[in-house]
Parts: sequence; C-alpha cells; structure tokens
Amino acid sequence: MPGREVFGEEEIQQVAEVLKTGVLFRYGFEDQRKGVFKVVQFEKEFAAYTGSLYALGVSSGTAALKTALKGLNLPEKTKVLTPCFTFVATIESIEEAGLIPVLCEIDESLNISVQDIESQIDKQTSAVLPVHMMGSACDMSGIMAASNQFNLPVIEDACQATGAEYKGKKLGTFGKYGCFSFDYVKVLTTGEGGMVVTDDEDLYKQADWYHDHGHPHRSDVARGVEKRMRKGTNFRMNEMQGALGLAQIEKLPSIIKNHKKNKALIKQVLSRHDFIKFRKHYDEDGEIATFLAFFLPDVKMAERFKEKMKENSITPGIMNYWHFVANIESVQTNRQFEKSREILERMVVIDILIKMDAEKIADTLDKICKMF
Ligand SMILES: Cc1ncc(COP(=O)(O)O)c(C=O)c1O
Repeated sequence: MPGREVFGEEEIQQVAEVLKTGVLFRYGFEDQRKGVFKVVQFEKEFAAYTGSLYALGVSSGTAALKTALKGLNLPEKTKVLTPCFTFVATIESIEEAGLIPVLCEIDESLNISVQDIESQIDKQTSAVLPVHMMGSACDMSGIMAASNQFNLPVIEDACQATGAEYKGKKLGTFGKYGCFSFDYVKVLTTGEGGMVVTDDEDLYKQADWYHDHGHPHRSDVARGVEKRMRKGTNFRMNEMQGALGLAQIEKLPSIIKNHKKNKALIKQVLSRHDFIKFRKHYDEDGEIATFLAFFLPDVKMAERFKEKMKENSITPGIMNYWHFVANIESVQTNRQFEKSREILERMVVIDILIKMDAEKIADTLDKICKMF
C-alpha cells in the first residue's frame, strides 16, 4: 500500500526545490521563497483531486481529525459515534477534542454498521464519525440518511482511503469535513502529514484558524500583528511535506491501478474455493485495493489458515487484531462488540503492495486452500 514504494526522482526534485529556497515554513518569507509555495500548491491539487472546494494541509491524520472536530465547535462532552474497529487515533481525537466517543459495531464491510449508528443515537449525540477502513467505503447512503434524519454533522475519517470513492464521488467529500493521513505507511505519503477537506467556507476558516493558533493568514498584514480569531494549536504542514505530496499525488492513480491489478489476481485464485467469503464492499470499483480481506467459516480455520500462510512465507496482515477496540488497552468501553468480534476473528488479511509478486502469492494461497 505505501506510496513510499514509488519514491523516485520526482520526490527528490520537489524536495530539492524547497531546500534551494531554504524556506520550510508554509507562510511568509515571500522575498526568500521566490514564489515556491509547496503546501499551498499541494492543497490546491488535493482539493481538485477530491472535488472539494477547500483543502487544508496539516501535520498528520490525527491532527486532521482533531482539527475537523474542533472546527465544528460541537458542545463539550457531547457524544460522537464511531466504529469499534478503527485505528486508535480516531478515538483519541474525539477525546482530545473534549467529546465522548461512542463506539458502534461494524458489519461485514468492516465499516461502521448503519443499524448500530441508528440504535446508538440519543439526545447527547452531536456528530457521526465513520471510518473508511482499509481503503473501502462505508455505506455512505445509509450514513448520510441517518445523520440527516437526526440533523447530525458527519466527519469522515478517510485516513486509510485517500483516492477511494463511493458511487463516483471521492471519500471524504460526503460529510462536513473529510480527513486524510499521509503517514509513512499510507497510499500517498509525505512521511507524516494529513489533509482536511470541506465545501463550506466557514468550516474551512475554522479549521484554518484552529490549526495555526487562531491566525487568519491575511496577506495584507504581517503574521506578528494579525488578530487571533479563536483558540488553536500548531498542526501546520511544512514545505517538505507539501513537496512530497505534490510528487505523490501525481503517482496516486497509477499506485491505485497497480493495487487493483495485484489484488484482482489474488482474489481471482481465491474465489475458486467456495469456503472463502470475501469482505463486503459498498462500492468495490471505488476501493483502492490496499488490502484483500476474506473470511473463513470459523475462528479455528482462520487461525490454521494464517499458520499455513506463515509457514509458506506469506505474512498475514494484523489489522483485524490491532484495530479492534477490545485489543486497545488505552480505550475503555462497556460493550463487548460480539458481532464485530465474530467478524474480525474469522478474517484473514493480505496487505497488497505496489511491488509484490502477486502471481507467486496467489499460487501459494491456492495450494493452502487445497489443504482445507
Ligand atoms: C483510520 C485512521 N485514522 C487516523 C489515523 C491517524 O493518521 P496519522 O498516523 O497520520 O496521525 C490513521 C493512521 O493510521 C488511521 O488509519
């Protein structure tokens, strides 16, 4: 999955342009930077790529989520619904924003269950934060319908889904804000980094101010004498990250194309075996194919299958273990999430890479399947 697999001359050239100016800060230093504004340019390209009106570069996906939650100015200690299967950053961001995460079950898409969202909404709920896990869309029609019915804003965690779509529209563009991560293991990487997108000018301004200590970023006065518009923090993206982002966004379509090719090859071989059931997709064409997830009939078989994979030098992915709340010691919850557990424990994940010997892996998996 990682965009780092295709680092090349383009990234080197972009970063070199920044180093030649010596300006690593995204704002100011106009005389010295000689027109080089990498973060601004990356934001423009990312907005165009996702079809958003506004994009704001930030320092990480976690920062993107917190910026979005703060940007909405939700009442303190109100509840935000999010899935029990996600990277811990989603839950931490909600807590850090002074809100209460309420976790929901997932369905066989590995994404939040709309039915459980509906059952968890109460008077204290102030927002819904679905996560497009492992590059594939949540049921966005269902989520938007439920959220609209209760007048709740949606923030999409698209940190694992840069470039993915739902019915022809990029993920991250359905809710009030969409959040992306460009950390080192992501499909588009800037080392560390993230992006917040929105179509709402006021929400863009709130995010822009919040992510830089309340600064309004006026072009007519110096930064030092600007009025602070609100309380904020420092989640700024720097010029090196912007430069890497520009090189990587050019490569994103081909990265996704390669994932799809490798995944299709392996999936085709596995689909010869009736006992394998694949992850449900609400829009399979729109996913970015960073993972191939499938289910075995029971936990024992799934464990045995993974053992066989290891014996044959294929490392099974650990997403289903690592990102399930029951295994996240730092998060307290009263619910057991039996339904999600049952799904996740029967799951086998294969990480799809850009440069992988998909044919050899497919062949080995075929041989393993024949042992069952
Ligand atoms: C679903 C999800 N949300 C948020 C994040 C946080 O992103 P970052 O590592 O850029 O802070 C990640 C990163 O893995 C993620 O997978």
